[in-house]
Amino acid sequence: MISVLRLGHRISRDKRISTHVCLVARAFGADEVIMTGEKDDSLLRSVNDVSDSWGGEFKIRYEKGWRPVLKEFKEKGYEIVHLTMYGLPIQKKLKELKSPSDKLVVVGGEKVPGEVYEIADYNIGVGSQPHSEVAALAITLDRIMDGIELDAAFDNAKKRVVPQKKGKKVIESR
Ligand SMILES: C[S@@+](CC[C@H](N)C(=O)[O-])C[C@H]1O[C@@H](n2cnc3c(N)ncnc32)[C@H](O)[C@@H]1O
Repeated sequence: MISVLRLGHRISRDKRISTHVCLVARAFGADEVIMTGEKDDSLLRSVNDVSDSWGGEFKIRYEKGWRPVLKEFKEKGYEIVHLTMYGLPIQKKLKELKSPSDKLVVVGGEKVPGEVYEIADYNIGVGSQPHSEVAALAITLDRIMDGIELDAAFDNAKKRVVPQKKGKKVIESR
């Protein structure tokens, strides 16, 4: 199981990027996202709408505080993988990250509290340059899963893309 914790969502500033965090988590094989920060019902709804149309078992939920979430996942035996430009290079820690244990991948927003760095089992950098939680999450999931997530089937999809050399083909079932 791979869950993703999104820290510190702000409705006014993060709507688009947090939505992309959730869509990347779903498309790249994570099982769920837990949103923290401000409660954004329209974001939860739009991610659920995507899952409803495009299938799969992906879950999204909101929790007000991140501390209880980290505690919950620690108690469940998950390894906490915090993505940060200050962390150890992902390419050097892949063996540990590919272990069979369940993982909670944590992505931040503007400022991540120091406590998160302490609680995390791994602080992992996708390069040491500042970029984006969306890119960091996508690369991390893809490296952990060796690309097999790109072949995943999403059950009970109402819409499926039929890949085309040119143009778009979508099969819709009711
Ligand atoms: C706007 S960035 C803030 C950059 C931040 N100073 C940091 O610690 O990575 C928001 C989030 O993107 C992710 N992120 C950005 N650059 C990253 C990198 N090079 N490696 C891993 N994660 C990164 C982190 O999860 C970070 O909390």
